[in-house]
Amino acid sequence: MTESADQLASTTSDEPALADIDTETPAISRVYDYLLGGKHHYASDRAACQAMIDAVPETPLLAKANRAFVRRAVQYLVGEAGIKQIVDIGSGLPATGNVHEVAQEIDPTVCVVYVDKDPIVLAYGRALLSNNDNTTVITADLRDPDAIFEHPEVHRLIDTSEPFAVLLGGVMMHLEYEEDPFGVAARISARLPSGGYLMHCGCADPGDPRALELNRIFNESAMGSRCFAPVDEQLRFFDGLDLVAPGLVPANAWRPNPDFPDSDNPAQPMLIAGIGRKP
Ligand SMILES: C[S@@+](CC[C@H](N)C(=O)[O-])C[C@H]1O[C@@H](n2cnc3c(N)ncnc32)[C@H](O)[C@@H]1O
Repeated sequence: MTESADQLASTTSDEPALADIDTETPAISRVYDYLLGGKHHYASDRAACQAMIDAVPETPLLAKANRAFVRRAVQYLVGEAGIKQIVDIGSGLPATGNVHEVAQEIDPTVCVVYVDKDPIVLAYGRALLSNNDNTTVITADLRDPDAIFEHPEVHRLIDTSEPFAVLLGGVMMHLEYEEDPFGVAARISARLPSGGYLMHCGCADPGDPRALELNRIFNESAMGSRCFAPVDEQLRFFDGLDLVAPGLVPANAWRPNPDFPDSDNPAQPMLIAGIGRKP
């Protein structure tokens, strides 16, 4: 158990027991946390990361570029599009610049529901959110959007008759083709009212040998799931939606923040990002 997990275990009593979490097998949530420089990871996660970093040293920069886009997307959705409700599916572990922090810094009334299939996210999320009435975290699976939207916590915080945004940051890429990622995206879009938004970012295969290598290592690991996919294919996640300018583009080209330029990030070509609006 990491030092932070020890601390959490001593400060909370009603979380899913961290003792039940399989620390021997790397988990996507904790691997991503390690790549971002977080604290919630175990030796198995660090070993999986090291294999990726040894092959492609830019791997942590890929995670950081992903996270930077998530922040800019939330700033756009809340600050410019006026969104007041967010469902963040595949939210990951708490990290610097959490979605609710970015959103509520702009508008403290914004409601956020974090959703992740990994129960460790619930454990750490609850500890972080204990004093925040507008934000909650649930354990649920992207592959079952109906279960997510019928969850009592989603009913409590999200009025689905009013515009809301669904964030799919770095998560669609973990669905296998047999799990029907395009059908899942369509079922989520169908839940959006007019004026609602869907955000997606994921690893793209720009013909870059680094992408092929990372894809191979990831698939051969215990986390094994499809990862990199062609850009044209990922456009299908936005079927029936109007893409917000500049479209589905390399993440650093999506409304870059002049105060935090990411354009010289050498991992950028491997990541694409976009936001669609329901007409
Ligand atoms: C790469 S992290 C992305 C975190 C965050 N969305 C971001 O972009 O910064 C992917 C997260 O998706 C979660 N995840 C993977 N497959 C999922 C599924 N089928 N349903 C829900 N969450 C899933 C993982 O547990 C992990 O926490």
